[in-house]
Amino acid sequence: MAAGGPGAAGAARVSSGRELGCVPEVAAALGAVARQGFDFLAAPLFHPRHRREFGLSPARDRPGPQTRSDLLLNGRGEWGAPPPQAMLQELDFGAYLGLPAFLLPLRGAHSPNLARVLSAHLHSGHHSAAVSTGRDWDILGGTGRGWHNFRTLCDYNKRVGVALEVGPDLPSGAALERWLGEPLRAALLPTSLFLTNKRGFPVLSRPHQRLLGRLLKLEVQVVLWGAPHHGGKPLGAYLQYLEHLGQSRPPPSAYELFARGYEDYLQSPLQPLMDNLESQTYEVFEKDPIKYSQYQQAIYKCLLDRVPEEEKDSNVQVVLVLGAGRGPLVNATLRAARQAARRVRVYAVEKNPNAVVT
Ligand SMILES: C[S@@+](CC[C@H](N)C(=O)[O-])C[C@H]1O[C@@H](n2cnc3c(N)ncnc32)[C@H](O)[C@@H]1O
Repeated sequence: MAAGGPGAAGAARVSSGRELGCVPEVAAALGAVARQGFDFLAAPLFHPRHRREFGLSPARDRPGPQTRSDLLLNGRGEWGAPPPQAMLQELDFGAYLGLPAFLLPLRGAHSPNLARVLSAHLHSGHHSAAVSTGRDWDILGGTGRGWHNFRTLCDYNKRVGVALEVGPDLPSGAALERWLGEPLRAALLPTSLFLTNKRGFPVLSRPHQRLLGRLLKLEVQVVLWGAPHHGGKPLGAYLQYLEHLGQSRPPPSAYELFARGYEDYLQSPLQPLMDNLESQTYEVFEKDPIKYSQYQQAIYKCLLDRVPEEEKDSNVQVVLVLGAGRGPLVNATLRAARQAARRVRVYAVEKNPNAVVT
């Protein structure tokens, strides 16, 4: 459920949420979490007792609602959940509420039923993103292959990602690297993970700081759970610390900024012979930092090679740029001619009438 904390509008902010295991009064809990500065609340969608009741009489046949009403919150994204046999019902209800994400606990190496129910739900067109959790770092490889199996059973659905439950012990460097290559969506941090610094504030150990730094770079959302117990500081102090870690990240490079949103997506090959490319596509080519400078360098050397110094005013070399697009190779040619102090006549050939304008 989206809480819309005070700083939710900032650019490079850490997206942080609060996980509560028991929420008797949802609107009040959401308000309190927002006042503490969190952006969202992660809470069980149905009362845990409902799970026990699901298969048993008389509760099974009891009339009335299965959970609280959706009217407790408005529909503009305030709602933001776990499973068993009742999972489908929960998923359906969550989709009805428009929840942005579910947290599903993945507890073993084989969860075919969970994968089946979730896949069916996702295939039926629901757009809620589903996230599975790996409490056990070994779940990816080594002793357990739970996440890998689960993801395979879900047919690598892009809406299924990982919420890492970060504990005091971190895995080896190689295992960590493998996890960082998975589609990570959230990191679940218990307040018990924090240490108290000299000034009485909650901080993380160096290895955990490094891990958080790398997770935040991947735009992972942080979910804090557990009571505050560091020097009497409120939960806000934990949030401030996470913000501080977020701000100490190096800014994204031009390439990272440009590629944002396309990471890990296979692109279908362009067909520039058959199609007329869009301006934006040319723009992508033109961001290549090497191609155009190397082309300029090649033309420069070629001109010097072909035209001796004494012919530089009379000898005009013809350069054909075939498939010129918006003209970056034409520009590179003209720059090379100036650089070499040689004369050129350039023909730009292009079949895309829109690019010809440029
Ligand atoms: C990959 S783009 C390269 C554009 C530009 N040279 C650059 O480096 O940004 C290839 C260009 O060749 C053009 N092209 C493809 N077939 C062509 C043809 N038969 N005659 C003229 N231009 C053609 C396409 O429209 C496209 O603009």
